[in-house]
Amino acid sequence: MCHRTGIFSGRSLSSNRIRQPLGARRGGFIVACSGDSVVGYVVGASAGGEGMIQSVAVTPSLRRRGVGARLMESVIGRLSEKHGRISLLVDASNEAAIRLYHKSRFSETGRVIRGYYPNGSDAIEMSRESVLHHRNQR
Ligand SMILES: CC(C)(COP(=O)(O)OP(=O)(O)OC[C@H]1O[C@@H](n2cnc3c(N)ncnc32)[C@H](O)[C@@H]1OP(=O)(O)O)[C@@H](O)C(=O)NCCC(=O)NCCS
Repeated sequence: MCHRTGIFSGRSLSSNRIRQPLGARRGGFIVACSGDSVVGYVVGASAGGEGMIQSVAVTPSLRRRGVGARLMESVIGRLSEKHGRISLLVDASNEAAIRLYHKSRFSETGRVIRGYYPNGSDAIEMSRESVLHHRNQR
């Protein structure tokens, strides 16, 4: 699945590749590969007229090398083609994810869902506007 294709092949982590698996183009399931192995993924979707990021993860041994940020950049690019706003929910105790989302220019909306996660943590809503979408609307 991970052979040859690389959207980000010119970037510093040259062994990693980010691509859309076959059959998942519209839903926004994007994986990062290192060699033939999937080392990260992000899932984006359309819901209620806006884009949503549902999940992102990177294999522990390859974290803090920019893979998560590049997966975010890729899914944001796809969702921005269709949506003016992209939102997500994040566990209030997940500092790494919150920092990643800030780096991807998401901000807290102020909406908090108490006890949303099975561990009892609250969910924080974050969102960002899509520059690309607004430019295309003009
Ligand atoms: C959150 C996650 C996807 C980040 O992936 P990553 O590849 O390590 O992220 P990056 O290397 O691209 O980091 C981008 C930025 O996120 C922030 N960040 C990432 N991991 C961090 C950590 N452990 N602590 C603090 N900040 C962190 C930093 O701001 C970082 O930028 P910097 O390295 O220039 O400081 C990864 O930690 C993960 O898979 N966690 C488990 C799954 C999860 O919690 N997913 C989110 C909810 S679905």
